[in-house]
Amino acid sequence: MLAKVNSCALIGLEGVLVDVEVDTSRGMPSLTIVGLPDAAVKESSERVRAAIKNSGLVFPGKRITINLAPADIRKEGPAYDLPIAVGVLIASEQVWPQAVEDALFIGELSLDGSVRHVNGILPVAAVARQQGIPRIFVSAADAPEASLIDGLEVIPIEHVAQLAAHLQGLRQISPYVPDDDPASAPPPRYAANFAEIKGQEHVKRALEVAASGGHNVLMTGPPGAGKTLLARSMPSILPAMTIDEALEVTKIYSIVGLLPADTPLIRHRPFRAPHHTISHAGLVGGGHWPRPGEISLAHRGVLFLDELPEFSRRTLEVLRQPLEDHQVAIARATGTLTFPANFTFIAAMNPCPCGYYGDPLRECTCSPATVTRYQKRISGPLLDRIDIHVEVPRVDYDKLTDDRLGEPSAPIRARVEHAREVQRGRFADTPLSCNADMGPGEVRRMCRLDEAGRALVRAAMQQLRMSARAFHRILKLARTIADLAGSGDIETAHLAEAIQYRPRRKL
Ligand SMILES: Nc1ncnc2c1ncn2[C@@H]1O[C@H](COP(=O)(O)OP(=O)(O)O)[C@@H](O)[C@H]1O
Ligand SMILES: [Mg+2]
Repeated sequence: MLAKVNSCALIGLEGVLVDVEVDTSRGMPSLTIVGLPDAAVKESSERVRAAIKNSGLVFPGKRITINLAPADIRKEGPAYDLPIAVGVLIASEQVWPQAVEDALFIGELSLDGSVRHVNGILPVAAVARQQGIPRIFVSAADAPEASLIDGLEVIPIEHVAQLAAHLQGLRQISPYVPDDDPASAPPPRYAANFAEIKGQEHVKRALEVAASGGHNVLMTGPPGAGKTLLARSMPSILPAMTIDEALEVTKIYSIVGLLPADTPLIRHRPFRAPHHTISHAGLVGGGHWPRPGEISLAHRGVLFLDELPEFSRRTLEVLRQPLEDHQVAIARATGTLTFPANFTFIAAMNPCPCGYYGDPLRECTCSPATVTRYQKRISGPLLDRIDIHVEVPRVDYDKLTDDRLGEPSAPIRARVEHAREVQRGRFADTPLSCNADMGPGEVRRMCRLDEAGRALVRAAMQQLRMSARAFHRILKLARTIADLAGSGDIETAHLAEAIQYRPRRKL
């Protein structure tokens, strides 16, 4: 008898329906899986056999052929255990085919028949919903994640025996009901707070502007000036994500298997700070079956690269394309795959190898040639993609020992939220979410200047020998500064602030 069960494969971030067909026929007892299965799928046969036997059910002593269709899509991982087991139960007439018609199955099995977590539940559930499949069977551990998709009945299963009893109509499993609205949870407690950072007011201001409009920042300064501390305080002023953004980010973490067990929905903007020894594939994504890298894990949040010149030149150059396109294209044998990578780039560096070039108190021991070589490690095109260049000088003793606290993160975050609100209104009819997302067309329409503003930019462009890209970046940045000030027009003061964030040294 032939049985057919719905399941799902993932290509990059997208799910594709997969038919799991199980056929039994007379002959030597055997089990064969066809349809491009990888090693983990092939091992399914052993897990399914043991799980069915250990659930008090019968594993048929027949020739069993399993086909995963369509055949040209890679099927990886153990997620097909559950649909294969259900197919075997139908093909051996222990479950009626009608019982599984309106459902999609996904889950890994243990030898004892219990059902385990698999990665990528959220995109799979999204596919079920899109394809009009009203019900999804997942492990009990994965039910909260699947329930993030509205209008889908989620059946949580602990064990194959329990599932069989449900499908046989003997004992019903109730659909999963989420405890509470995942969007209404309290804000997190942040590790760092801007109040604790002494001085550096202009850097804090730059980070506030960056958080408001999603602009990239490079901080340069001597060791111990607080660059790492400032960057790590950034999450405490980032604006909240919309539900759609949260779902986008959660999808990525779901596929990589990085969703925290207790929180099905990622509600806070990610902050990723990979070490400079990170591999190329680890940063941008890739591998045999391409997986999202750090730049995609930072999607809708912050990618922080500390000690920027320590990263290999090749690693840094691959950032250029995603910084421009907000997504990353990964080539593979069967075409390219894209992952979202719309992140705010924050970087920190010392001005030279010894760290004290330009410091008023401590002498730099590097030769001029060494300083130049060090700074050249960051290429002009990469620097050109950074909106805000800010120097972080050492803080003097008086400031550091001053007991008065600075402005805490909460009011700063409130201003950032307000500026984002203005941007949401501006971009309501577009797919953009913040000023940094604007392309040249939007810049032309939404960042108009008056006569004085045009004169100022013209002079700055000549003096600083700016590229067309730098020009657009200044206008976007000025737009954000105006939004923070609650101004509908970009005024000269807003432009002037934006221009002083350009790098001093020539690109
Ligand atoms: N402005 C500051 N206010 C308070 N503490 C500071 C400040 N700058 C540096 N520190 C202290 O010095 C430590 C080292 O700073 P860090 O951020 O690592 O410097 P950098 O990354 O610039 O080398 C911090 O962990 C913090 O304890
Ligand atoms: Mg540091």
